[in-house]
Amino acid sequence: KMKLREAIFSANNLASKFYNYLLLNNDIASKAKEYLNDRGFNEEDIKKFNLGYAPDSWRGLYNFLSDKGFNQEVLIKSGLVVAGKNNSYYDRFRDRVIFPIYNVRSEVIGFGGRVIDPEDFPKYLNSPESPVFSKKKLLYGLNISKEGIQDKNEAVIVEGYTDVLTAHKFGLTNFVASLGTALTREQANLLKRYCDKVYIAYDADTAGDKATLRGLEILRQAGLDVAIIELPQDLDPDDYIKNKGSDAFIELESKAPDLIEYRIDLIMEKYQDQSANSRLKAAQAGVDFLATIKDELTQDAYAKVLAEKTEIGYEEIKNKMQKVKKEKK
Ligand code: CTP
Ligand code: MN
Ligand code: MN
Ligand code: MN
Ligand code: MN
Repeated sequence: KMKLREAIFSANNLASKFYNYLLLNNDIASKAKEYLNDRGFNEEDIKKFNLGYAPDSWRGLYNFLSDKGFNQEVLIKSGLVVAGKNNSYYDRFRDRVIFPIYNVRSEVIGFGGRVIDPEDFPKYLNSPESPVFSKKKLLYGLNISKEGIQDKNEAVIVEGYTDVLTAHKFGLTNFVASLGTALTREQANLLKRYCDKVYIAYDADTAGDKATLRGLEILRQAGLDVAIIELPQDLDPDDYIKNKGSDAFIELESKAPDLIEYRIDLIMEKYQDQSANSRLKAAQAGVDFLATIKDELTQDAYAKVLAEKTEIGYEEIKNKMQKVKKEKK
């Protein structure tokens, strides 16, 4: 008898082939295929990421895997099948585009399924936690981006599946997704095994901005150098790279502020109107923040950055800094 974990891996692997076969070959998937094509993903992308289509049926996958000899325990523990009332069973993913999720050894550990019709919800459905699937410990795309990350000693961390797909399509091969905005310590530590520097490129919206502030602290604590890529408002990396190309993204990368400069930028944004009074307030808020930095050399380096951005003299910034430090004592 196979061990449970092995059986789940095996069921997941077969399921990914079932979904992928339907997407590539069956007319019932024509809507899904058209949806992907409209988003710029062709057959090559589908094959590279083993994308699939889960049919609009209650037991399509259940019947397929049962016929292959998988028992109900395995199907339920894999999360592919849900147990209903009165010993009934049904497929978790129905009428969705399927993104298989791999671990770093390229084993299928779970799935994400996206609605095709924008009226349907939730937009994405993921596998539940299972003996092989722990959402907080995985980075989507690490299996395919591992070499790109090691070669550059840098990774770009994004929110979603399609951000990773589009990056690869445009030759940017060091992207991984946290699958949402809740970056964890486990994910940060996992990344640290492969590189020393990370760019956060979360969506330019309220959720993404909040998650960036939280995420950069977690990445820093994992010992990673962090820089922040700021996209135009309301775009995500998928949108941006498709519209502007990979060179434009690389340009953003080269201008990406590190975490201290990013915090200064946020303060500047808050006092945006550039009046003399606002610049003074920004300078004071900046000084209050810089005073929390322990290393004096670092503090001084960023005092210069703050002086430039606020157009308030470096000496003046230093004076304010001394004042704050005295008050603290
Ligand atoms: N997510 C999720 N469940 C949701 C919404 C989002 O699990 N209901 C996760 C998905 O992994 C998704 C990521 O959070 O890829 C980022 O969410 P979002 O930015 O809303 O989606 P996109 O990746 O931009 O998806 P798309 O471009 O297909 O709309
Ligand atoms: Mn988002
Ligand atoms: Mn922003
Ligand atoms: Mn998107
Ligand atoms: Mn997004």
